[in-house]
Amino acid sequence: AQPETTVTVHTEQGKQIIPKEIYGQFAEHLGTCIYGGLWVGEDSPIPNVNGYRKDVFDAIKELKVPVLRWPGGCFADEYHWMDGIGPRESRPHMVNNNWGGTVEDNSFGTHEFLNLCEMLGCEPYISGNVGSGTVEEMAKWVEYMTSESGSPMADLRRKNGREKPWKVKYFGVGNESWGCGGSMRPEYYADLYRRYSTYCRNYNGNVLFKIASGASDYDYNWTEVLMKNIGHRMDGVSLHYYTVAGWTGSKGSATRFTDDDYYWTLGKCREIEDVLKRHMAIMDRYDPKKQITLMVDEWGTWWDEEPGTVPGHLFQQNTMRDAFVASLTLDIFHKYTDRVKMTNIAQIANVLHSMILTKGDKMVLTPTYYVFKMYNVHQDAVYLPLDLQCERRIVRDNRILPMISATASRDKAGKIHVSLSNVDLENGQEVTVKLDGISGKSVSGCILTSGHIGDCNTFDKPDAVALKSFNGARITKEGIVVKLPAKSIVTLEIN
Ligand code: AHR
Repeated sequence: AQPETTVTVHTEQGKQIIPKEIYGQFAEHLGTCIYGGLWVGEDSPIPNVNGYRKDVFDAIKELKVPVLRWPGGCFADEYHWMDGIGPRESRPHMVNNNWGGTVEDNSFGTHEFLNLCEMLGCEPYISGNVGSGTVEEMAKWVEYMTSESGSPMADLRRKNGREKPWKVKYFGVGNESWGCGGSMRPEYYADLYRRYSTYCRNYNGNVLFKIASGASDYDYNWTEVLMKNIGHRMDGVSLHYYTVAGWTGSKGSATRFTDDDYYWTLGKCREIEDVLKRHMAIMDRYDPKKQITLMVDEWGTWWDEEPGTVPGHLFQQNTMRDAFVASLTLDIFHKYTDRVKMTNIAQIANVLHSMILTKGDKMVLTPTYYVFKMYNVHQDAVYLPLDLQCERRIVRDNRILPMISATASRDKAGKIHVSLSNVDLENGQEVTVKLDGISGKSVSGCILTSGHIGDCNTFDKPDAVALKSFNGARITKEGIVVKLPAKSIVTLEIN
């Protein structure tokens, strides 16, 4: 017999806030993420506001994006920011060597990005160029964006139409410096970090939060060397973890996969918890007070590109499987916010594990978009620890996969939100949610589910998978009894 499925939420033990930045996004000059995704230009027949695509803007505004990382990724270490300022028609072109050799016209640059962040009400997170840029170039970028006084860069900014400096908090000193960002050894990068970051100044009350280019998934030595050699000169160190079958050969289709592939994917995505723990254990040795944060500034699924799309543009479809990778990963991040204070799913539109896909004037919201939407109630809420009792299965590669994943928080108004994922492809589950000492007066919710795990939204059928209201939960003496259909994700609101 299967054990009874229970989620016991410790409503009195909430100490930690889930920083809204856990819900961060990433926009790189890659494929059609920027051009065609976020930006179409003022002269486009596609409806836009000052060049920003209106449908996409409205959709991401609803997500309450707290922070947006830009301009890369790998692109960041070939990006020379001065090419992206001034009159658009005179901006030089370049070749985007990392991503399909596409010609980049630099029409979306610093002003376009920072103004977008202001319109969205989100923090910008700039990735600076260490790989092929100079110290002077990086220092001047910071001055250009944030200096108020009559400094040369502030004057240049004014000449380009922006009087007041922007607020820029998060600044990354390089990206993947072990790979596309310069193929460096950690010792060498640590020294470069010290040098470059010295000249990233705080102007006129703008205080930079400096982030070192961190490890890829299992590279614990990189974190060790950075903690040892950079220490408190950095405010944060990044980590990249993709749910990917491997870096050589096929990564598998985004839409055609077996049940076994599906369960493997969830096991692999959940492995991020062990990876986090190991990096955090290293950080704890050097920084027991947890003053340096771990920023998972790239995560998500990585499949083969959709057939017929431009090679190197990383355009992939997004199914209910990707939605589960999002919900399970967010559930894990919520547990470690004493150290993990920001994460950025890769990427916001048309690239990898996207929120949004566009084609010409058409746009679809992906199942993952809906996970971010139903989960945004957890932003800045108090994390409530929980105990979970449920069936666990061994999946391919000997990983243990619980059939239920859960997370809970209490928001500023006192409402409790519980998110539950039933990953079982065949069986519905009756879950009893026990809230220590609280019975709850009313419960409502929303659900994301679909007939087949490979279901996705296409340009012909944009609403195949969508969020619906959920009425499968009732309050009983034992707790809230929730009937979760097979392969479903639910967020409950309890008053
Ligand atoms: O997100 C796509 C790429 O993945 C990024 O540019 C890079 O940092 C990582 O390898």
